Amino acid sequence: MSDLDKINSIFNAKIDSVKTKIDLQNIKTEFFGKNGQITQQFKKLGSLDQNKRKEFASNLNKIKDDLTTQIEQKNLEIENFEINEKLKNEKVDITLPARTYQKGKIHPVSQVIDEITSIFSELGFTVAEGPDVETEYNNFTALNTPEDHPARDMHDTFYLEKNKKLLLRTHTSPVQIRAMLSGKPPFKIIVPGRTYRCDSDQTHAPMFHQLEGLHIDKKITMGHLKGCLDYFIKEFFEVKNIKMRFRPSHFPFTEPSAEVDIGYKIENEKIVIGEGDKWLEILGCGMVHPNVLINAKVNPKKYQGFAFGMGIDRLAMLKYGINDLRAFFETDFRWLNHFGFDPLDVPTNYRGLSK
Ligand code: DAH
Repeated sequence: MSDLDKINSIFNAKIDSVKTKIDLQNIKTEFFGKNGQITQQFKKLGSLDQNKRKEFASNLNKIKDDLTTQIEQKNLEIENFEINEKLKNEKVDITLPARTYQKGKIHPVSQVIDEITSIFSELGFTVAEGPDVETEYNNFTALNTPEDHPARDMHDTFYLEKNKKLLLRTHTSPVQIRAMLSGKPPFKIIVPGRTYRCDSDQTHAPMFHQLEGLHIDKKITMGHLKGCLDYFIKEFFEVKNIKMRFRPSHFPFTEPSAEVDIGYKIENEKIVIGEGDKWLEILGCGMVHPNVLINAKVNPKKYQGFAFGMGIDRLAMLKYGINDLRAFFETDFRWLNHFGFDPLDVPTNYRGLSK
């Protein structure tokens, strides 16, 4: 038997038992690798006589082609086998019931914060934030709130330490101090956030949300304050001619101070905002007291401005007809499904009055 015949019969004996790609790779190397049996034969060619070389080369090429074809065929066989195995093992059971997905809802408080923020951003306000745990100084003292003010009482405020230095902020107003101390005037910010008071009934919760506003610049007057809040309230409630009044009031951190009421009436047991002869208080405001500016390292001879604070939950209840504040914080999914908003809902004020 010639060398080539031998190689051929060894190959034939081996190829039949090949089952995997690794087996096949081994055979390839054994015959066609650097020192493979066929490769060796090619190396021999150069040392053969001219007349023998031609015949040998033609036989060798034939064998080479034949073995290569067999390897390719085997490769196809293995691939088909593997695909069939995969299909057998990975078949999808379409009789299984589909998974159910629950779509989340945006909480009315978050929705209203987004709406308010987008209205004030149109007026050039940016959003600032502060911590829920405040110092007594920022929450009261720097805001010109005297030692004997009732808001400082243990019954009204959650103190975190016996010596009263830290507390859960009772309003978002301390962020006025933080913002002014950490920057230079002018300031034009709104501050949404959680606030805390020892209070709980149908319209009061120990944790609730406020939104503070502060605008300090060189020539800010009460006229700006009125214009700003007038614009906001009309945009927010989407009512063009809203009845609104500024009622004189008192806050330690503003002078003069006012509370803003809007007109309303009850029609078919539903509240109608903007008309009627009843008044509803919705926010406090005023011109920032010079003592507050001094405490926040702003020169009151050069700068002045206004501030306001409103209850976000209250505004959400009014706008969306929700009558129990406590439901906001009970995390009842059925409630959220009813009163919540779809994530892709365009905030209602995008269709607002000014557009
Ligand atoms: N901080 C006040 C409160 O919680 C609300 C308030 C009133 C904020 C007047 C202000 C303001 O900025 O000027 O009742």
